[in-house]
Amino acid sequence: MNISTRIKNMNYSPIRNIVPSLENAKNKNLNVYEMHIGQPNIKTPDAFFDGINNYKEKIIKYENSAGSHATIKAFCQMYKNAKIDLTEDEILITHGGSEAIMFAIQTICDPGDEVIIFEPFYSNYDSFIKCASVKPCPIRLDANNDYKIPPYKTLQKAITNKTKAILLSNPNNPLGTILSKDEMHTIAQLAIEYDLFIITDEVYRQFVYDNCYYESFMNIDGLTDRCVLVDSISKHYSACGARIGVLATKNKEFYSQALKLCQARLSVSTIEQIASANLIYTMDSYADNVRGEYMRRRDVFCTELSKIDGVDFVFPKSAFYVFATLPVDDTQSFVRFLLEDFEHNGETLSFAPGAGFYINADIKNAARFSFCANACDELKTAAKLLKIGINEYKK
Ligand SMILES: Cc1ncc(COP(=O)(O)O)c(C=O)c1O
Repeated sequence: MNISTRIKNMNYSPIRNIVPSLENAKNKNLNVYEMHIGQPNIKTPDAFFDGINNYKEKIIKYENSAGSHATIKAFCQMYKNAKIDLTEDEILITHGGSEAIMFAIQTICDPGDEVIIFEPFYSNYDSFIKCASVKPCPIRLDANNDYKIPPYKTLQKAITNKTKAILLSNPNNPLGTILSKDEMHTIAQLAIEYDLFIITDEVYRQFVYDNCYYESFMNIDGLTDRCVLVDSISKHYSACGARIGVLATKNKEFYSQALKLCQARLSVSTIEQIASANLIYTMDSYADNVRGEYMRRRDVFCTELSKIDGVDFVFPKSAFYVFATLPVDDTQSFVRFLLEDFEHNGETLSFAPGAGFYINADIKNAARFSFCANACDELKTAAKLLKIGINEYKK
């Protein structure tokens, strides 16, 4: 009996990989500032729980494969408010943004096809692409150029006759960057010239700071038919465990073919969909408040981070991550050290080693810190622990 090469070629999540060391630290009664994962500590709005409590059916039935009418309608209204033009028959409800990305790749690509991703990327992109027997083709973004999209001519070099799509997150995880109008047009031009889909993952859409420019790829001229939007309530509403996402497109052929995948997995959780619909309708001010809180956290953590010798990062303008280089040889062994061999006053911290956000894992000194899981004063302490930890590790 053999396990498929396809699955063996996938990597374990660099984020979830540190869990055994984390558990170990917690078992030693250490207080760990968890900065490795994008799990907000902000309360899920009551509207979600009200939606669950209002469920009075005696049987939990399957929902429609495309999603419940109420949930689709709620998302449709949400997009209308956000000035993204999508009708109800252009929206599929999925098990989180994760399933939406998997379905998008499977719908667009045959085995052996290629998908362009910008490096560093959300680490699961590599897994989603590989599990469809598709090849991830990374284009590396340069820290010295503020992780900007390279010139058109550089992008063109990554295209082959197997390239089918560009998969990107905007706002960006892990970088916290946001694409400028020019960068978006460069990507759009590439997609149009080489007849590619753009799988635009906008799960951090509501967390753009400092009045930076943000536009959905859905609204860029000339892309109507080649854009596939990935969205989710996980981050927007601090409801990661609800597992409710969206795959949306104006491309009728894509929609009707992707529907086969939705039908094959029957339906998305009935009660969570009802609760999500309730949530989306009642949550106008929620995102504004949360955005303000994340900005404060970002400012506190980045201020402290910039005081540590040898730490370098691009100040995040979106999402809730800081991608930094640290003055250590290998952040994988450094995070293990922090969790297994270090403590200061009974406390330590975790982060996600940066190598897992690159195909070849050759960037050894990078780290992604998530600032969504801790309050400002905790982030201040976490940064201080990081400084002490670096010094101890170097000894
Ligand atoms: C960029 C990006 N896309 C998609 C997801 C998947 O989110 P979910 O499946 O919880 O909707 C995440 C989760 O962290 C993410 O950071």
